[in-house]
Amino acid sequence: MCVVTEIDSTTVAIAAADRLFDEYGEEAGLAVPEPADRAAARAAVTRLGERFAALRGAVRHVLARSSDQAAHLSDDDLQGLSEVVQNAEDLGASEVRILLQQGELLLAHNGAPVRLPDVLALAMPWLTTKEEDAESTGRFGIGLMTLRAISPLLEIHSGHYDVRFGNSTVTAVAGLRTPSGFVGPEWTVLRVPFEDGSLTVGDISRWLSGWTDSALLFLRHVTRIVLLGGDLRPLRELRLERGREKAEHLLLGGAMRQVRLREVESADGTRWLHCTAVVSAPEGVRRAGKATADTVAVSLAIPRGGPAPGQVHVRLPVTATALPFRIGACVTDLLWAQAGSH
Ligand SMILES: Nc1ncnc2c1ncn2[C@@H]1O[C@H](COP(=O)(O)OP(=O)(O)OP(=O)(O)O)[C@@H](O)[C@H]1O
Ligand SMILES: [Mg+2]
Repeated sequence: MCVVTEIDSTTVAIAAADRLFDEYGEEAGLAVPEPADRAAARAAVTRLGERFAALRGAVRHVLARSSDQAAHLSDDDLQGLSEVVQNAEDLGASEVRILLQQGELLLAHNGAPVRLPDVLALAMPWLTTKEEDAESTGRFGIGLMTLRAISPLLEIHSGHYDVRFGNSTVTAVAGLRTPSGFVGPEWTVLRVPFEDGSLTVGDISRWLSGWTDSALLFLRHVTRIVLLGGDLRPLRELRLERGREKAEHLLLGGAMRQVRLREVESADGTRWLHCTAVVSAPEGVRRAGKATADTVAVSLAIPRGGPAPGQVHVRLPVTATALPFRIGACVTDLLWAQAGSH
């Protein structure tokens, strides 16, 4: 009886992998059943691996080139770290942990676990599972591949899934052993194996110090990003405490609108008044390759200690402005970057 169930769940999972591979993008929001258990997930991943291995010629070549070129999309070799934070935020994580061990970088978050469509999107450049989701920040399906500036290999360990991605290769691998206390059982861990010596804790620490706690001001979920040392003690940490939200009605653009207000404080004692109003999306502006909602939340973070250098955020900071406060909105990056700089 048990055996029959196992065969069934594996067969269903393989069919789901085939359907994703053959039909993704043809039908908006294509839904497939999620593999029922670890064995079924492994079978689905193996099937995806076989499908990639069977690709030939120009299709194979263009996939490999697109993935490789992602290493050069940013002049920042550690851009992949912000992409990991962005993806963790999209999955509702409250915390991101970074640990560098000999020859491997571990990036972990406590957001929703991997699902089968994610495995396909992780393997394929320019494929995103977020096209229909106006709320998420991810849009292009390429961000995470900027990790290729560090390594051509990436593993993801999450829920039933233990998968390695290479150049158009997808392989089911053994579960990851992480240092005790690094993460809980529900966490997702990305493992980036790299050539020894090519990345140091100092590199990551310096990169994080370029952000400061205020980088987290317009994230809805992530409130802590921490770089851990070998003994798992925090070496560098970005952290914000968000106060309780209250709603007030204020005159905005000639109309009374509800504005949500909260106090936000960073670990070093810097405080901001954080205000959010939900306004109608600009008429006639659609987001390319991404669902556009009828309304858009526009937020300001006003420093309590007097004017401070301004930034435009699309959740994470994207560009500096001359304004003495920070502004955040999840719409077309370029549009807001331009609006902010005026
Ligand atoms: N931590 C994760 N857990 C589960 N799935 C993930 C994770 N990170 C990425 N993915 C999957 O991989 C896909 C590709 O991620 P990637 O960051 O490259 O692109 P994106 O977030 O879709 O868009 P963008 O290029 O704008 O970041 C995502 O759409 C998602 O399905
Ligand atoms: Mg992303």
